[in-house]
Amino acid sequence: MIIDQKKAKKILLEGGNVIIPTETVYGLAGSINCPNSIETIYRLKNRPKQNPLIIHFANLKQVLECVEDVPESFYRLAKFFWPGPLTMVLQGRNNLNHAITAGLKTVAVRIPAHLETLKLIEETGPLVAPSANISGRPSSTKIKHIENDFGKNFPILEGTEPICGLESTIIGWIDNKWVFLRHGVISLQEIERFLGENINHSDLQICPGTKFRHYSPEAKIFYSNEMFFKADAIVGYENRSYLSKKPFYSLGRDDDPKKIAYRLFDLFRRFDEDCLKNVWIDIKLPNEGLYITIIERILKASYTDSSNFESNVL
Ligand code: TXA
Ligand code: MG
Repeated sequence: MIIDQKKAKKILLEGGNVIIPTETVYGLAGSINCPNSIETIYRLKNRPKQNPLIIHFANLKQVLECVEDVPESFYRLAKFFWPGPLTMVLQGRNNLNHAITAGLKTVAVRIPAHLETLKLIEETGPLVAPSANISGRPSSTKIKHIENDFGKNFPILEGTEPICGLESTIIGWIDNKWVFLRHGVISLQEIERFLGENINHSDLQICPGTKFRHYSPEAKIFYSNEMFFKADAIVGYENRSYLSKKPFYSLGRDDDPKKIAYRLFDLFRRFDEDCLKNVWIDIKLPNEGLYITIIERILKASYTDSSNFESNVL
């Protein structure tokens, strides 16, 4: 159910939850000052309690009230990439609700590039917002995805639908250096180019969410050569030919990673609408930039109990 700014503000300040659009994906929001709304987020998503939430802010002043001991490069990154799809994990202030950080000393923060949502956060103060999907499912990038997971009556702030279709990139300031925590809309190379240094991947323990099964439709996703012949449908690029009579789902052209990213989660959900059981996806894409995020999401979503099938990647 689409609601306006005034209604959304009222619900959030009274400790309720509202789904907010961002430039990446929809978020299931609650006020950082309302423990009830934070608890409800974990319950509605069926999210493991040890998986902390990102706080969304309207401006740098709000961010600095929640974090401390930030390096000088934080200000440079913020000035260049915010508002935008970069999340930074920083030292959190002591007064933060433990349910937000899952008991960690750090907190994930970002300023989203979305007009209506920024306007709302200016009024309500900071909002926690994990992606608006049941845990394990693909993130919601369209209203119908939200309705599917949370029902038609769940309040959704009016505003532009997400334009990226994939989540933000996450980096963390850990032990006095930046580490890479999650692939996202901004590529690792872009961040390294900006900072003028290489960034290491953290071990998975630091970003709890990456340990869990993710982004998966009910349909099983495969990418091995062998499964090409066994799947019910083929997912690929409209400028390639696949020599198959099976139903074809297009991710756009293979030279347009932004469009591939935009279509990916919507297609994942369409497989279920169309009652597909086994889907083959072409993941032969360049190993660079946004393509790396796309491949990572497909691998995470894919059916891994496939020891019988030889993989043609990695
Ligand atoms: O684009 C996005 O980032 C979307 C939109 C709504 O902003 N949000 C999103 O949130 O993807 P979520 O909750 O689905 O993913 C957040 C990730 C999780 O993997 C979580 O483990 C990680 O951020 N995270 C949160 N706080 C953290 C912390 N203090 N340290 C390390 N990782 C953290
Ligand atoms: Mg998520």
